Amino acid sequence: MRLGTKLTLYLSLIIVLVLSGYGYFHILSRRDILMRKMKIEVRSIGQTLKVSLEKISLPRGMELVQDLIDAVEEDEKIQGVIVFHRSKGLLFKSQSLEEEIEPYLNLIQKAMEENLPQEAFKFYKKTPVFSYAFPLKDRRGQTIGGVSILQNTSFVEREIRRAERDIFITIFILLSGTVVFILLGMRKWISHPISRLMEATRELARGNLDLQMDWRRKDELSQLGQAFNQMAIELKEAQQRIVKEAEKKLELERTLRQSERLATVGQLASGLAHEMGTPLNIISGRIELTRKRTQNGEVQKNLEIIAQQTERITKIIRQLLGYVRKKKGEQARVLVGELLDSTLSFIDYPTMKQDIKIIKDFQKDLPPIYGDRDQLQQVFLNLFLNALQAMPQGGTLRVATSLKQILKEGMENGERSYVEIEVQDSGIGMDKEILENIFTPFFTTKETGSGLGLMVAQGIVQDHEGWIEVESEVGRGSRFKIYLPSWEG
Ligand SMILES: Nc1ncnc2c1ncn2[C@@H]1O[C@H](COP(=O)(O)OP(=O)(O)O)[C@@H](O)[C@H]1O
Ligand SMILES: [Mg+2]
Repeated sequence: MRLGTKLTLYLSLIIVLVLSGYGYFHILSRRDILMRKMKIEVRSIGQTLKVSLEKISLPRGMELVQDLIDAVEEDEKIQGVIVFHRSKGLLFKSQSLEEEIEPYLNLIQKAMEENLPQEAFKFYKKTPVFSYAFPLKDRRGQTIGGVSILQNTSFVEREIRRAERDIFITIFILLSGTVVFILLGMRKWISHPISRLMEATRELARGNLDLQMDWRRKDELSQLGQAFNQMAIELKEAQQRIVKEAEKKLELERTLRQSERLATVGQLASGLAHEMGTPLNIISGRIELTRKRTQNGEVQKNLEIIAQQTERITKIIRQLLGYVRKKKGEQARVLVGELLDSTLSFIDYPTMKQDIKIIKDFQKDLPPIYGDRDQLQQVFLNLFLNALQAMPQGGTLRVATSLKQILKEGMENGERSYVEIEVQDSGIGMDKEILENIFTPFFTTKETGSGLGLMVAQGIVQDHEGWIEVESEVGRGSRFKIYLPSWEG
């Protein structure tokens, strides 16, 4: 059942119950009032008749009061009048009364015996009649007879029926008014907004987040609609944020892959150069030697060509090396704390998703370092990503900085101050075997790992005259410490 129908039914039921109750009591009291009024009327008529009839000496002189009786009978509500005399019997009976007056005579009899007016409801030929009987006295106070006035009460019933009809009409009008009002009101204030909301929900489900509906009213449904609008805005923002995060992450991964790939090629190239350098040197030496020893022009010429080509191979290798070895980036003052902050912001989406808590423990007034911001960022990022990958079930990533005075072996002018960057996770940790290999190119324990991250990181840190230290415990986590010379310029 629809909301509107339900509400209409309930309200109609309430209206019918309340109005019926009201109508019932209204009719009861109306009947009561009418009856009472009628009785008073009859009694006062009776009083008038009594006074007049007692003035004349009954049974004579009946004609003296005939006018009065006629006047009483003229009232359409009066069914008839009966005057009875103790010794003479029936003195007067209205013409409208034919027979069956026995019960009324009995009532007069009772009034005379008890010396008190009597009242009774009786049917006279199917008409409801109220009869009022009272005794008559002579001058000495002796009861000499009695009178009964018969009042037709069907007008009361008519009145009551009219009142009932009025109440029915009222109920009907109120009911139809309510139904129309509720149906219209429901449509305007409830059904219509709800179907708009439903439409909006459907649109939202279809992915249309730009939907903004107009809700002007101040009622709850409009507030819901406004909240809905707000939700669409927030959803859209969230979606944009997620898209941006994802793009950022993708971009990050792309650069990371790129640098790793370059590093791989570089590794290969330098390995190649190293491996080929020795044989090439030997070849060059032998060519030189042979050329000195032979006089044969043809051999000389051939040796010349071989020498040139060997030279060419060496050059190509050198070129390859020069190409892959990323040119040293811009060297500048780098504030480590700031750089760590901005690098951490790259990973706030995965940390949130993985339920990882980040603790920053940066030393204040840390001196800057000197180096390539992009490369250093890559180092930090590699460590952060490794830490995240080591904590698939969540955990804590602590990043701390501090200034250390360290005396490095082989250093001539004593101690030097280093910025220490600690990256500590509460992840899976590493055993001794893994720990020994983490900087080896292509060493990885991950299904999709490249095994180059730490190697590249180490290369960069070493380029900056720093180094990396690692501590780790299986099941408890790992701590990487990077040392970079501080710049006090
Ligand atoms: N924070 C760490 N916790 C546990 N293991 C680590 C952590 N960082 C590095 N490792 C280990 O060192 C290996 C090499 O790391 P890396 O050079 O970054 O390559 P990749 O991450 O692609 O595997 C990883 O496969 C992993 O076994
Ligand atoms: Mg890695």
